[in-house]
Amino acid sequence: MRIDIISVAPNLLESPFNHSIIKRAKDKGLAEIIIHDLRKYGLGNYKQIDDTQFGGGAGMVMMIEPIANCICKLQSERNYDEVIYMTPDAKTLNQSTANTLSLKENILILTGHYKGVDQRIRDKYITKEISIGDYVLTGGELAAAVLVDAVVRLIPGVIGDEQSALTDSFQDNLLSPPVYTRPANYEGMKVPDILLSGNFPKIEDWRSEQAFKRTEQIRPDLIKDE
Ligand code: ADE
Repeated sequence: MRIDIISVAPNLLESPFNHSIIKRAKDKGLAEIIIHDLRKYGLGNYKQIDDTQFGGGAGMVMMIEPIANCICKLQSERNYDEVIYMTPDAKTLNQSTANTLSLKENILILTGHYKGVDQRIRDKYITKEISIGDYVLTGGELAAAVLVDAVVRLIPGVIGDEQSALTDSFQDNLLSPPVYTRPANYEGMKVPDILLSGNFPKIEDWRSEQAFKRTEQIRPDLIKDE
């Protein structure tokens, strides 16, 4: 999968993609992540990328031309399955969206700053808008990093133990059950007997039951939404 990201703060995106599982995916040739500095497409000597809002109001708006020029250049080089805009005023990212995006070949992600981008960019170029939660970040870069992480780890071959991604929280709309490792008894706090029993069908039943209980308690909306 190839992921292109357009940003005014490309430095913010360097570290998250150069460690751990994302780095491994890149090293294995399973994901290619390319960051484009929007400033290079800025207008005039000052490489302007934002301007005041029509109609008045605080905060700058990202201008059409630099973004449109950058998107058009990239679109002339390949077809994108999705052109995604990271913004708090959109539907929230969930596991199902991450699953769907992990099957795509090329995706382009636009990150916003200030008051966001001129609406006409959204109308003309954007095929999908994604928020990572009901709070406002300084810019869309960290949100894009979250999206890329959630998607890339699902690409087949990225996580060694295939089962591991499939049994994550949310894959079946349930939170994960509790997990334990050695020691079996820590200062009197014992691991549930069932997990030490070796009875794997029973262990699976216990895990499902625990996942359901936990979801009912912490995120009942996930069960209701089904
Ligand atoms: N940009 C700023 N806040 C954001 C959010 N919550 N999700 C996606 N992009 C954002």
